Amino acid sequence: MIELKDKKVLITGGSRGIGPVIAESLKIRGAYVALAARSESGLQDVAERLSKTGSKVYIVPVDLNIQSQREMLIDSVLKEVGTIDILINNAGLETEGAYVELSWTEIKETVEINLIAPMALVRLLLPSMLKNKTGHIINIASIAAKSGAPYAAVYSGTKAGLAEWTRGLRLELKGTGIHFSTIFPGYVREVGMFARFGKKSPWIIGSCSPEQVAKAVLKAIQKGKIEEIVNSRQLRYSFIINELSPKLGDWLMQISGAVAFQRRKIGK
Ligand SMILES: NC(=O)c1ccc[n+]([C@@H]2O[C@H](COP(=O)([O-])OP(=O)(O)OC[C@H]3O[C@@H](n4cnc5c(N)ncnc54)[C@H](OP(=O)(O)O)[C@@H]3O)[C@@H](O)[C@H]2O)c1
Repeated sequence: MIELKDKKVLITGGSRGIGPVIAESLKIRGAYVALAARSESGLQDVAERLSKTGSKVYIVPVDLNIQSQREMLIDSVLKEVGTIDILINNAGLETEGAYVELSWTEIKETVEINLIAPMALVRLLLPSMLKNKTGHIINIASIAAKSGAPYAAVYSGTKAGLAEWTRGLRLELKGTGIHFSTIFPGYVREVGMFARFGKKSPWIIGSCSPEQVAKAVLKAIQKGKIEEIVNSRQLRYSFIINELSPKLGDWLMQISGAVAFQRRKIGK
């Protein structure tokens, strides 16, 4: 079991949603946490709350859309903290809508935040991790990576890309001391992008709490889990069906109401 005490962790998407819940769970176990997001006031609120116990939280307001700001983020945390033991790529954007109605800007921004930004941050951080022969990258994907969601096809594509890029790097860098994990949360209740929608998900999709996502991150760090799906058992079975017969998998999504639910989410 890996000890979290004094580990230096950088979490993106730390201003709201699931990020602060993950941060809290690591911080109460003694980790030193740095948080990044665009909203300075959001980051300050979270940092103030979390700094009440243990070490202060370091915050970096940053737009992960912009390469020079990604570089500034890594530089700034390394300067402040000395090292980054664990990077959690959690910031994400769910651009929903009929694909044909999305603007190119919306499509590109979703790919930038969900896929290019994690790739860029890891590329910036890897040399120092390789030099130290230690490090852990945790990428927060989604169940949409396992089963493409209608009206969230771009989101699904970025998350599937994130998951397979992580797998590729894990195999490429095996034995170097750098570990890679992917977390696949389902719809999350209480906080975050799905909770803001304010509707109950269909039975086949189910839901999970933000604490369950934080627990999966903890398992990845402490027990070296490489992939963790955080969702209902029935949905896991549907992923197996998808693999065996994509046609049957599509049919299941139709008749279970999952497709209609996604359509309702965008008000169609
Ligand atoms: N909630 C769910 O049901 C669910 C399910 C599966 C997977 N996930 C994944 O879990 C992760 C967290 O989701 P969430 O529900 O917590 O989302 P959220 O509530 O919408 O929060 C997104 C976070 O990302 C940050 N962010 C967005 N655009 C950014 C940018 N350009 N630069 C820097 N930071 C940016 C936001 O901060 P600012 O706005 O302050 O920049 C915020 O802190 C995402 O990767 C998401 O895809 C969520």
